[in-house]
Amino acid sequence: MQKDSVIGTLVTALVVCVVCSLLVSGSAVSLKEKQQANKKLDIKKNLLLASGLITEQEATAENIERAFADIDAQVIELATGEPAPDLSANTFDQRKAAKNPEQNKQIDPKADSARIKQRSKYSIVYQVKDNGQTQMYIFPVHGKGLWSTLYGFIALASDLQTVEGIGFYEHKETAGLGGEVDNPDWKASWKGKKIYDDQFEVELQVIKGKVSPQDKNADVKIDGLSGATITSNGVTGLVRYWFGPDGFGPYIEKARTAEVPAQ
Ligand SMILES: Cc1cc2nc3c(=O)[nH]c(=O)nc-3n(C[C@H](O)[C@H](O)[C@H](O)COP(=O)(O)O)c2cc1C
Repeated sequence: MQKDSVIGTLVTALVVCVVCSLLVSGSAVSLKEKQQANKKLDIKKNLLLASGLITEQEATAENIERAFADIDAQVIELATGEPAPDLSANTFDQRKAAKNPEQNKQIDPKADSARIKQRSKYSIVYQVKDNGQTQMYIFPVHGKGLWSTLYGFIALASDLQTVEGIGFYEHKETAGLGGEVDNPDWKASWKGKKIYDDQFEVELQVIKGKVSPQDKNADVKIDGLSGATITSNGVTGLVRYWFGPDGFGPYIEKARTAEVPAQ
């Protein structure tokens, strides 16, 4: 075969294509495990950051794993608040479950303040323990903002009422507008706020504008993100959904009245 013939050119191009595609698919397969491990580590890191258990500077892989060792993760059935005995927190994938007809639930549009349409019937709940006593509960939450679904964690103190921290690890809101959900000062303003009123109805909301210190309900209000009312309302919506009766409400009610033994 002549090197500069049409056939020769085609064969050379084909060989180059095959070799390149083998290299690309080979590296994709070999990197997949590493990518998955990194994704898991990133979620753990964000959970620890949201709950204030480590700082960004401390968040090395070693410190993350060490801090995570003090956290009990348990899969619960949201409708009952009971542990889901057949599901392990090590392998359970809530996003996959939300798409699986055997493991998901369609949400009544009237109850869907998070605007997610469907959710997994199960969720992981994390407990930070000290000498066997639960110091903090950490709940994974998600809901629609303006452009995207925001995924994050909200940590509550052992009274299951007072916020310890919040953080989102995934969203596509606009930097400087809805993206201000990542602003450290805004996140810090959540600490000490109350999710529920005295009747244990969800009250916490992100308002439009600034919370007045004179407001007697300041403890259930968070400053709005300026120029980003849609994202702000999305955050209120996800808090209302996940801490309400269709979300973690049954679990929280049981844990509060000590029906769920702190394990
Ligand atoms: C390019 C662009 C990006 C925007 N991104 C966001 C956003 O991420 N979150 C949001 O709530 N509003 C965003 N907005 C503004 C919304 O369209 C809307 O005006 C705003 O949420 C209203 O909030 P305000 O009443 O506080 O001004 C964006 C607007 C533009 C033009």
